[in-house]
Amino acid sequence: MVSVSEAATGMGGNWHVRKVRIGEVEFPYHYGVDCTDRILGELADLGADRFIVVTDDTVLALHGERILPGLRALAPVEVLSQQPGEHMKSLSQLSDYVERALGAHATRSTVVIAFGGGVPGNLAGLLSALIFRGVRLVHIPTTTVAAMDSVLSLKQAINSSLGKNHIGTYYSPEAVYTDIRMLTTLPERELRSGLCEAAKNCLAIAPDALPGLRKVLANGGLNTPDSLLWLLDESIRAKTMVTAQDTREQRAALVLEYGHTTGHAVELADQRLRGSEGLSHGEAIAFGMIVAARISHARGWMSRECVIQHEEIVAALGAPQRLPGKMTVDDVLSVVRDDNKRGYLPAEPDSIPYVLLKGLGDLAGTENLPLVQVKLAEIRDALEGLNRDNAWGS
Ligand SMILES: NC(=O)c1ccc[n+]([C@@H]2O[C@H](COP(=O)([O-])OP(=O)(O)OC[C@H]3O[C@@H](n4cnc5c(N)ncnc54)[C@H](O)[C@@H]3O)[C@@H](O)[C@H]2O)c1
Repeated sequence: MVSVSEAATGMGGNWHVRKVRIGEVEFPYHYGVDCTDRILGELADLGADRFIVVTDDTVLALHGERILPGLRALAPVEVLSQQPGEHMKSLSQLSDYVERALGAHATRSTVVIAFGGGVPGNLAGLLSALIFRGVRLVHIPTTTVAAMDSVLSLKQAINSSLGKNHIGTYYSPEAVYTDIRMLTTLPERELRSGLCEAAKNCLAIAPDALPGLRKVLANGGLNTPDSLLWLLDESIRAKTMVTAQDTREQRAALVLEYGHTTGHAVELADQRLRGSEGLSHGEAIAFGMIVAARISHARGWMSRECVIQHEEIVAALGAPQRLPGKMTVDDVLSVVRDDNKRGYLPAEPDSIPYVLLKGLGDLAGTENLPLVQVKLAEIRDALEGLNRDNAWGS
């Protein structure tokens, strides 16, 4: 990855530009604090004939005024917005947005702007990939999950009725622009959700960043621009370490799926039980990491100390350490069976491919395919153990 940071004056913060390379694809990631005017200046250079802004009603209410008047001065703007939530990531919603974008006279010179969290980001990604077989996409992420995780991936996906992210493609943005100031309005829960992914990167890819993460967590004040800038820098570094040679995240970058197999299943099962009151994506992934740590320990791979480190970080992030609410182990297992990593390894009965660590930053499997088959019974044992025991470190 090439990284260039340039100081910007008069904006109350620095304007950073890093080139993100994912396989053969490269795009600039611009970020700073209070830099919306600069972002609008960059968007003007795109020469768009129209902007299609995919967002949600919360983001629109909180931050729409920062962006929309300036955008309208550049070109006509069509805003596609919905009540926020994972429900947006459906085929019917995507189909509606495609029709509305075309109905608003989108052309090949149109730019789709993903303005919001990972949900509008994924929808906008698919929308831009589909219209005329591909129009330009720009991300303006407003959640920690989006800014520190999803925009650093080319994966664009929506959900099927069977599971998360089952329908999608790979699509590259022209550029990413983050104004850290917009992240500071996130509720604590959403803020922490992105931090869970940052923690995943530290545990699985860049354990040298763990002392820094602990410091940020111990300081509280997670939504200060300084903490968020540190986390964004570290996330770009860790994530591009594994995606630089793996555009499709189907080889070395599968490490990014750490915590995701059981995490996704818990997230989906909780949505079915509690709707939008359920766990956030990041909380579910954090929980999935301690399940993975317990499975690895039960195999005689991961040390008890390393499991305890997982638990301490997950606890500091405010994520659960046992199944939430009324969710049962069977609720989780019934979803885990449909995990989207099936097929990477030769099928084995009652098993699914799983990312496991043997220690911090030490992957099981091979460097090019960091997956091992895990039996559903092992996941059951780990979940039942977590529901039964206190955290080992407490
Ligand atoms: N590779 C990838 O593409 C990738 C990676 C990680 C996550 N994801 C996807 O991203 C989604 C989760 O992303 P998310 O957590 O950003 O969800 P989200 O987009 O639903 O945002 C979460 C909530 O935060 C609100 N919000 C957004 N910005 C805000 C702000 N600045 N201030 C206050 N509230 C704000 C939203 O309205 C929403 O209620 C999942 O669907 C996941 O699958 C994709």
